[in-house]
Amino acid sequence: MNTEVIKIEENNIDSDAGSALERAGSIIRDGGLVAFPTETVYGLGGDALNPESSKKIYAAKGRPSDNPLIVHVADIESVADIVKEIPEAARKLADAFWPGPLTMIMNKSDKVPYETTGGLDTVAIRMPNNKIALELIRQSGGYIAAPSANTSGRPSPTVARYCVEDLSGKIEMIIDGGQVGIGLESTIVDLTSGTPMILRPGYITKEMLSGVLGAVEIDRTIIDGNSKERPKAPGMKYRHYAPKGELTIVEGSQEDVVAYINDRARAARADGKRVGVIGTDATKSLYVADVVKSVGNRENEATIAHELFKVLREFDDENMDVMFSESFDDSGIGQAIMNRLLKAAGHNVVRI
Ligand code: TXA
Ligand code: MG
Repeated sequence: MNTEVIKIEENNIDSDAGSALERAGSIIRDGGLVAFPTETVYGLGGDALNPESSKKIYAAKGRPSDNPLIVHVADIESVADIVKEIPEAARKLADAFWPGPLTMIMNKSDKVPYETTGGLDTVAIRMPNNKIALELIRQSGGYIAAPSANTSGRPSPTVARYCVEDLSGKIEMIIDGGQVGIGLESTIVDLTSGTPMILRPGYITKEMLSGVLGAVEIDRTIIDGNSKERPKAPGMKYRHYAPKGELTIVEGSQEDVVAYINDRARAARADGKRVGVIGTDATKSLYVADVVKSVGNRENEATIAHELFKVLREFDDENMDVMFSESFDDSGIGQAIMNRLLKAAGHNVVRI
């Protein structure tokens, strides 16, 4: 299949871009697939109400079909048709955070095929905060099922180039809308049983959700690497975001971490391995390795979130055999950052 790549600027959806989005919409309505930007990461979109489209999404990503997809909508009114009822909590959260990086799980209506929900009676729904995405959803009939637009197991794409790398030849179109704003996938909150529960941490933090709803729980299995329980979001059990090389997270005082990483890096390089280090602006110059990258300033969590997947992808491109990363504070957005980093490292952490 020939994959068409088109460039659209989010802040300039002129008539050319408008007609390109109309065409993209008709591809999706006809059962085809289009990768598109959202504010979190790029999504791989198909018609959420068409079981054949969902099957194609799983095939293009190489994703296990028990891992349900998120349905993207362009307004809260659209939610009514695809759920049994809209819980009061969902209305409050939509008021506060939509469009935005928050996915809510509700009980699905018969309109949503089991192919889209991985066989579950619940459906994950989100309204993305990106003008290209919102217009594409409207042009596509209102409901786009979209996982992140990467091959299963690779870091989620933050630029269109990585969608091209993973999906070229497998889907009809890729919309290049530039670099995404956030760089980590949405927060997922389950509203189907008792106290709302975070199934995947993201940019919308537990504190932000509690501010609107009061009590909010978090699925412990997603922070505890040794938990024997299954995570409640089926996708969280997979080792996502896995870089090609071996990644170790090192935790401790700055001085100890730098000394430890430099020792291990020296040994690995003596063995002929290519070594990469993920540090911060303050420490970048202190490391000795083949490639050292900074994810920004420790005080600015949003930047770290934005850089993390990008750096992991770049290390893949640069064929690192061994990588070390500093550890980050796990409060606020830090919880999402550490969740993704720990998964990338297969929970391989050294505490010194
Ligand atoms: O930011 C995002 O959410 C991005 C963009 C494209 O919107 N999408 C995304 O989708 O990250 P994906 O497929 O990579 O991750 C979806 C996650 C998986 O962990 C899946 O198991 C969970 O959502 N999920 C979906 N439906 C669910 C349901 N009904 N119950 C529990 N978990 C669900
Ligand atoms: Mg994903």
